[in-house]
Formats: sequence, structure tokens, C-alpha cells
Amino acid sequence: MNLMETLIKSLPDDVDAALITGDFNRRYLTGFTSSAGTLVLTRKRSAFLIDSRYYEGACKTIRDCDVMLQDKLYRQIGALLEEARANTVAVESDVCTVKLLNTYRKEMPDITFLEDNRLSEQLSLMRRIKTPQELAIMRKAQEYTDKTFAYILEKIRPGVTEKEIALELDIAGRKMGADRLAFVIVASGENSSQPHCTPSDRALREGDFITLDFGFFVDGYCSDMTRTIALGHVTDKQRQVYETVRQAQDAAFAKIKPGTVCRQVDAAARNLIDASPFAGTFGHGLGHSLGLEVHEAPAFNRTCEVPLEPGMVLSVEPGIYLAGEFGVRIEDVVVCTPDGFENLTKSPKELIIL
Ligand code: GLY
Ligand code: MN
Repeated sequence: MNLMETLIKSLPDDVDAALITGDFNRRYLTGFTSSAGTLVLTRKRSAFLIDSRYYEGACKTIRDCDVMLQDKLYRQIGALLEEARANTVAVESDVCTVKLLNTYRKEMPDITFLEDNRLSEQLSLMRRIKTPQELAIMRKAQEYTDKTFAYILEKIRPGVTEKEIALELDIAGRKMGADRLAFVIVASGENSSQPHCTPSDRALREGDFITLDFGFFVDGYCSDMTRTIALGHVTDKQRQVYETVRQAQDAAFAKIKPGTVCRQVDAAARNLIDASPFAGTFGHGLGHSLGLEVHEAPAFNRTCEVPLEPGMVLSVEPGIYLAGEFGVRIEDVVVCTPDGFENLTKSPKELIIL
């Protein structure tokens, strides 16, 4: 059974069909990347309506689904629904805009469009368990990230700006084979106390901590990694903070195995930091799932009740942020395995002082 059939079969009986318009969900189900297109799934047939910009590519890539050239979109959708005698149709509650839903209702007045979350939740459930094929791509994406980190260490020296480092990272990753940068944070000195500081014109100085947080897309899937390194020298306090963050990450790792509830993994890291002299300085969640998107569900945070299962891929990224001084974050991406976890991130974590 292909993913489209698995999805439609897993929806409750009162759902006759589903309309998928979210870029990432379409990509997940069809394997085809586009910025447009409507996937119409009925209990009889899967059809992908796509405009002429992508039609030829879609015909070449998509299997087990009828690729149709988009012409009069709503009439085409209506005809597919009528053919399958579909009266109740689910849309992605987290993607479908009110405007699009209003248009569906106006153009197809005999159809009941369901506003509930069941389709989006089912897609999220499917996407959170990565297949061996997806994992192979994510390993490759992480490998480019590790290699880019090793390369960039040679470029970091006093006087270079955060923006220049960000640009070098982008170019180096793509030269190594990544498709594109997913995102990049380069935060130095006092900027590093802001977890998501935008790269600026600040020039690096001796004594800085520099937080590098970046990832690349490869074949639609992304990587994510953070390392904090020092330039020239560090104070005892900087070293203490760094080691506390490392210990917090290790405390989280010790919990990662099937059955552990996500919230408990977050708590392991958070409790360690809160028992240190830096209590209360770890503001964000410990980590997030990733795959086709940089942030997916479930997440390691204070409230997530989802138990870990083999095949889930999450980041583990504790941090300590001292406003006006500096910050440290260390982030690896792990995949939950039947026995525990595999760390996809191979870059070293001993404090690097350049
Ligand atoms: N590591 C960056 C982020 O998760 O947003
Ligand atoms: Mn992350």
C-alpha cells in the first residue's frame, strides 16, 4: 500500500475524501516537490492536479496516482469527488486557509467540507516515524552539516563578521552537495545570549563565544546542528556554562528510548540546569522533530505527552543564556531506535577554542 492509500484508509469512515494542499504534505505523499498542486484522495482513486509549470515533472516522478493537468481546478476536484460519490471531504486544518475553504464551499455547494483536525493529525502521525529511506537522506543531510562545521572552523578568526560566516557556511554546504541552506544562526559575544539572533555585522573578537546553528536541505529533508565555540580564550564562567550545557544534553540522552514521554526528556536536561548556578536561564524547549520541515511534531518540551517510538527523529538542544553576557547551546539530532537512540550528529563537543 502506498502512503496515499495508507492515509485515506486510516481516516474515519465518515470521511469520504481528502484534499491535500500543504507543500510538505504533498511532497511527503507524492515524493514530488512543487509550490502548488492539489492532491485529491478518495477511497477509489488518488489524483494530483497540477499546473503546466510542474506537469511534466510530476508525470515523471509520481507513481500510483493519476497526474492531471490543472485547468478548471474546482470543476476538476468536483468531478473527482462525484465519481467517487464522496460527500464529506477533509481538509488540512493547519494548512487550508479560511479563504480557500470558503472557495471550496462556494464552488462545490453539495459537498460537506470538514474543519476538524483529523486529517492534519493523521498526517503528522505518519510523518513522525521516518522510514529507512528517509533516514538515509537525513543522515546525508547531517553529514554535510558536520563537514561544513569542520570547514568553517578554519574561517573563524577575529575581525570576520557574523554575516560573513553565515555566507561561508551557506556556500560551503552547497559546494559539498547540499541542495540549500535550511537556516543559519551565527551569534557571537553578547549576541549569543539571544537563542535565535540574526547574523549581524558584528566582528568576532577574542574571548567571544560563537554559536553556530544551521542545517541544510537534501532531497527535501533537513538537518539541524548547533555548536558553540570560543575564540582566543575563555573565562572560568564560560567554561562552567559550557560544561553544564553538555551535561544537560547527556542527561537528556540517558532518557531517550522507546516509551519515554517527550516531556520527561526535556525535564532531565532542564532539571540539571535548574540545579546549577544557572537556574532559570534555559527558556526554550529541549528539542523538536524534524524531517521535511525544520520543526515538526512531537517535541521535547515541558508539556509534550507523546511517548518516543523507533523512527522518530528529534533534536536535543539545551542552552544557557545570560543576557548581556553570552550564551551556549549544543544541538545534536538523534533517531530513536528499538534499544535507545542513534546520534546522527558527529561533530565534536569538547569545548573548541580557536
Ligand atoms: N536549531 C534551531 C531551531 O531549532 O530552531
Ligand atoms: Mn533545532
